[in-house]
Amino acid sequence: MIILKTQEQIAKMNKAGDILAECHRQIAQMIKPGVTTLEIDQFVERFLAERGATPEQKGYHGYPFATCASVNDVICHGFPSHEPLKDGDIVTIDMVVKYDGWLADSAWSYPVGSVSEEAQHLLDVTKKSLYLGIEQAVVGNRIGDISHAIQSYAESQNLSVVRHFVGHAIGENMHEEPQVPHYGPPNRGTRLKEGMVITIEPMLNLGTYQCKIDSDGWTARTVDGKWSAQYEHTLAITKDGPVILTEQ
Ligand code: MF3
Ligand code: CO
Repeated sequence: MIILKTQEQIAKMNKAGDILAECHRQIAQMIKPGVTTLEIDQFVERFLAERGATPEQKGYHGYPFATCASVNDVICHGFPSHEPLKDGDIVTIDMVVKYDGWLADSAWSYPVGSVSEEAQHLLDVTKKSLYLGIEQAVVGNRIGDISHAIQSYAESQNLSVVRHFVGHAIGENMHEEPQVPHYGPPNRGTRLKEGMVITIEPMLNLGTYQCKIDSDGWTARTVDGKWSAQYEHTLAITKDGPVILTEQ
């Protein structure tokens, strides 16, 4: 079932999104060689508590942290850890913020210190693919138009698109229908309507798109050990076009 949102509800999601975006701006300042992702996670817990918001991921299907912290070959759902980030790493911080009952979801990848040209290419193309997907999120288009825009650009840049994890509608629940795959043919799937709120969250890999899950039951890695990046926004579909609710 698709749950359309009113303007008032979208405004509430935008409040959660503003808190989330400000949190990402602060995280961007913290990312340096030597910092640990557990320190970032603890910062997020404090930051949200001070604003009367809560980290929706914590306890979600038993997930133990406020954030996911996915380093290098980890695609998504990495656990924050005591391991310091190193110069040349890339790290994705993902979180879902709840404020006044409504949610916003955004992930961002960051370079740590100075990264290789290949890693920078991965970051640049993944971020651009998110915005190409968002451009397609207009009333009358279909989910497949978003998927196709992302896949065709990613593959033209020699990157692969993760299949196992997809975007989703969001509202009072983290995962609502429909799903938003980042691969697939255009002009297929659910037609986009005013009042839909979705995430677009492409995960692109330098090597194969296939993934495996660690024994912790969460951490998703590339099977070939090559690196992966992800950028995610929550956006509302309006008659005036897509409105990003988590813009930094
Ligand atoms: N924010 C993510 C998503 O897009 C990950 C949620 S996984 C969790 O759905 F279980 F940790 F919350
Ligand atoms: Co999401």
